[in-house]
Amino acid sequence: MKKNLLLITLLLLGFITKAQKFDDLAQTPPMGWNSWNKFACNVSDEMLRDIADAMVSSGMKDAGYEYIVVDDCWHGERDSLGFIHENKEHFPSGIKATIDYIHSKGLKFGIYSCAGAETCAGKPGSRGHEFQDALTYAQWGVDYLKYDWCNTENINAIGAYTTMRDALYAAKRPVVFSLCEWGDNKPWEWGAEVGHLWRTTGDIYDCFDCEEDHGTWSSWGVMKILDMQDGLREFAGPGHWNDPDMMEVGNGGMTTNEDRAHFSMWCMLASPLIAGNDLTNMSEETLTILTNKEAIAVNQDSLGIQGFKFADKDSLETWFKPLSEGNWAVCFLNRSAEAKDIEFDWKTKVYDEFAKRDLDAAETSYEILDIWTNQKMGKTKKVLKTEVPSHDVVMLKLSKK
Ligand code: GLA
Repeated sequence: MKKNLLLITLLLLGFITKAQKFDDLAQTPPMGWNSWNKFACNVSDEMLRDIADAMVSSGMKDAGYEYIVVDDCWHGERDSLGFIHENKEHFPSGIKATIDYIHSKGLKFGIYSCAGAETCAGKPGSRGHEFQDALTYAQWGVDYLKYDWCNTENINAIGAYTTMRDALYAAKRPVVFSLCEWGDNKPWEWGAEVGHLWRTTGDIYDCFDCEEDHGTWSSWGVMKILDMQDGLREFAGPGHWNDPDMMEVGNGGMTTNEDRAHFSMWCMLASPLIAGNDLTNMSEETLTILTNKEAIAVNQDSLGIQGFKFADKDSLETWFKPLSEGNWAVCFLNRSAEAKDIEFDWKTKVYDEFAKRDLDAAETSYEILDIWTNQKMGKTKKVLKTEVPSHDVVMLKLSKK
């Protein structure tokens, strides 16, 4: 009897320890680069090596960008035993050689697959090959997996993503698991147990506030995506993040002001910062946006609390994000076509119900830093008066002194 109990306990323990994601990864939002937004299906060994070189030489690596993620279309065919191989034409030395090169630069490598039998671009997906694929990724040295949701009719989302989670865990190489399920099955409600980040929306589109209609589906401008984050902040935190999609900064569809607003809001949202532009050919403005130290520090703050919209009037939004050491980030976002004057009395009551934090600037004096001009702007004693250009932000850090 006792023996049986012991056996059952051991079996249960075995099951419990097996069924989990890798803990301790993505304690701050993952930072990196992904091929899809700029290169779509044109992925190759040469391109990825060039991107890795540029990530280092541009200063992006020093700014904190770490993962180089190849999206759809790296695939060749499955062999007779069902193992997946890279496209031999685009990866003539094998994808492992590409990954080794990326690792030699001190960077990490991410790969893409799909829960369906085919990926969104019609390449072999992982359905029915989850454990095999996870082993292959581990052998290759993969550090991050983006797992898509095309061709999944009649598949249960929690089940499919959990199977891949368990496959990755069984393969024993720590992998950040990025669920790309577009928010269809409310992944924020179950994703923390399964992965480290989950897409909250359909695909991003390189425009400020448009909807791009593809017939059966739409992709979304950055303001549209921003609005879809409403109500999700409480689900995010260290190791489990809302993902409003990879960035379009530097891809040419938006002005510099709009790119800056996009980047700032992704920082306020504690969003993964996955660049999606051609790092080998960036303007000074793009690089300045992507590597702003203070904005990145807001995103990477160790508390991992997603910011919230405090006020919204006449297309001017005020966002707050509690930071560690009692500090705060504040972002005024102007969505209108004209510049807007702002006046903000720091004595305004700002209480974050979720974080249980009170700004309390009536009692506490904060030093103000303008994150984009890098100017000190005095203290929170005086009413803030400034102008926010159209489709742009004024982003501030308030430091407790
Ligand atoms: C889906 C995803 C995108 C990208 C493409 C690739 O649309 O949401 O991010 O991965 O598939 O085909």
